[in-house]
Amino acid sequence: MNKELEEQIQDERKIFDNVMDIIRAGLCLLDENLRIIWANNNLRDWLDLKESPVGKHCHDIYHCSEVETDNCPAVQAFKGKEDHIIETWVTTKAKKRMCIQHVAIPITNKKGVIDNVLLLTGDVTESEKLMHRLLLLQQFGEITQGTLHLDKLIHLILTCITASYSFGFNRAMLFLINKEHNVLNGKLAVGPSSSEEATQIWKEMSSKHNSLADIIDKLDYSHNIDTPLNTMIKLMAYSLSDTREVVVSCAKGKKPIIIKNADNDTRVTEDFRKVLGVNEFVCVPLIAKNEPTGVIVADNAYTREPISEDRVNTLTMFANQAALAIENAETYKRLEDKINQLTETQQRLIRSEKLAAIGSMSSYIAHEIRNPLVTIGGFAKFLSSFDFTDSKIKTNIDIIIEEVKRLEKILNNITDFSRPSTPEKVNVQICEIIENTCILMENYLQEKHINLHKDFESDIPQIFVDPIQMKQVFLNILMNAVESMPDGGDLDVKIKSANESIEIDVIDNGKGIPQESLQNIFYPFFTTKPNGTGVGLAVSLKIIEDHGGNIDVKSKYGKGTTISLTLPIKY
Ligand SMILES: Nc1ncnc2c1ncn2[C@@H]1O[C@H](COP(=O)(O)OP(=O)(O)OP(=O)(O)O)[C@@H](O)[C@H]1O
Ligand SMILES: [Mg+2]
Repeated sequence: MNKELEEQIQDERKIFDNVMDIIRAGLCLLDENLRIIWANNNLRDWLDLKESPVGKHCHDIYHCSEVETDNCPAVQAFKGKEDHIIETWVTTKAKKRMCIQHVAIPITNKKGVIDNVLLLTGDVTESEKLMHRLLLLQQFGEITQGTLHLDKLIHLILTCITASYSFGFNRAMLFLINKEHNVLNGKLAVGPSSSEEATQIWKEMSSKHNSLADIIDKLDYSHNIDTPLNTMIKLMAYSLSDTREVVVSCAKGKKPIIIKNADNDTRVTEDFRKVLGVNEFVCVPLIAKNEPTGVIVADNAYTREPISEDRVNTLTMFANQAALAIENAETYKRLEDKINQLTETQQRLIRSEKLAAIGSMSSYIAHEIRNPLVTIGGFAKFLSSFDFTDSKIKTNIDIIIEEVKRLEKILNNITDFSRPSTPEKVNVQICEIIENTCILMENYLQEKHINLHKDFESDIPQIFVDPIQMKQVFLNILMNAVESMPDGGDLDVKIKSANESIEIDVIDNGKGIPQESLQNIFYPFFTTKPNGTGVGLAVSLKIIEDHGGNIDVKSKYGKGTTISLTLPIKY
């Protein structure tokens, strides 16, 4: 009878042990001194224990520092608090990183006293990873909302893919569709260039446990990525009709493509295989509003870790969010360009309206003042032919004649400046016009102690311009430069041709233009000179724009000014 009972107990125990091991959790029972009095086999396996943990202090088994602290679930359970949960990361016997969660449940005896605690240890790696991914997506969403600069955004997207634990890809590349040209262009590649560099980066990453925000905070966008891979990717451009290319078919098919063995996969061209230099990689499309906008390519070139379906799914989810962020940044860029264009046009309009107003005003002045002025001048000349005994009268008549001449000159200047006539264009060599203007100013420059340096590129092509108007522009600009150097200085005139246009730089080391004046100098009547009319640059810009060109000004107050004229060769 006793033997039968013993056998029955042993059978029951076997069933109990089996059940305890089937449960996908590590279990152990602790006494009030936190010593293990029973444990299932799972726990031994997970924690890679050589011998039974029974009899040991639980702290020695779990290697935790939470004992006797408010964070220890077992200590809390003995105090009657049941729902204290804690999570830790361990490395298993099979070198797998595992996130384990401990839940401590108090066990009360018949007297209602807690004399044991059951410690339940579960594997929550997958749910923890999922949480991490969701958190990553949420963080990425928050960060990208504030990033409207396209290049920054692309850098950020690829950094997330390579530097974050959830993706953990070794390298990532991004291609964007250019709808206008119907091509897929390589934009950026991020990732280490060698295994040594990769090991170094991951060592740093794992020791610091940086969050996405930390990683992004430290990103140096101004630093150019000069890896050979990035250089190659940036040169890549595939026609969207060339579906032999895996990136193109991924974009067009709007589905991820996992390549397991590139050497034997007809979907990968020889060229693409050479650039990547790996056998296994994944292409994920960027889709915004149901339209493909680009492709992300990622691989594990250094760890050679196989790319799991799970990682591809996360990457796809991430790519959808990235695509929307890119779309936003592109829309913002287009809008910004349009606003700049609009402001530019508006300013041009205001300038030419002002010029037109000066034009009609000066016609009025010419009409109303010139005639009486001529009459006064005529009378004064007539009077000067008489012999006056009083020399004072003669001197005064001469003053009237001189002042009338001066007034006529001012009048001519204003009318000439304010109404540039329609250009009469001919084919000319611009260097000759500038040379002649410089010769004209030679004596004046010497007088003002200004050294002129000319640097004219040879083979400057002829351009189709109005030579008189051009001369007027150079005179205005050279005069301004001279006037900015009252104590002498250096004046450089450079001419070069580039990209279907000719660029003329006039550089002085004079007073410079204060920042607050820079935006006004092209407005008619803006002047800082006591005797200036303030129309020189306004008229010059109008003439240059009428020839399809542009004027750019760079100036440092107290250091000098560079005025750059650009004129198209064909217009
Ligand atoms: N090279 C330069 N260095 C410093 N300031 C300059 C230079 N060129 C232009 N400026 C500034 O721009 C203003 C406008 O120049 P602009 O040639 O239109 O008129 P102005 O020289 O004052 O008069 P004018 O009608 O006699 O040419 C100048 O008054 C001066 O303040
Ligand atoms: Mg001037």
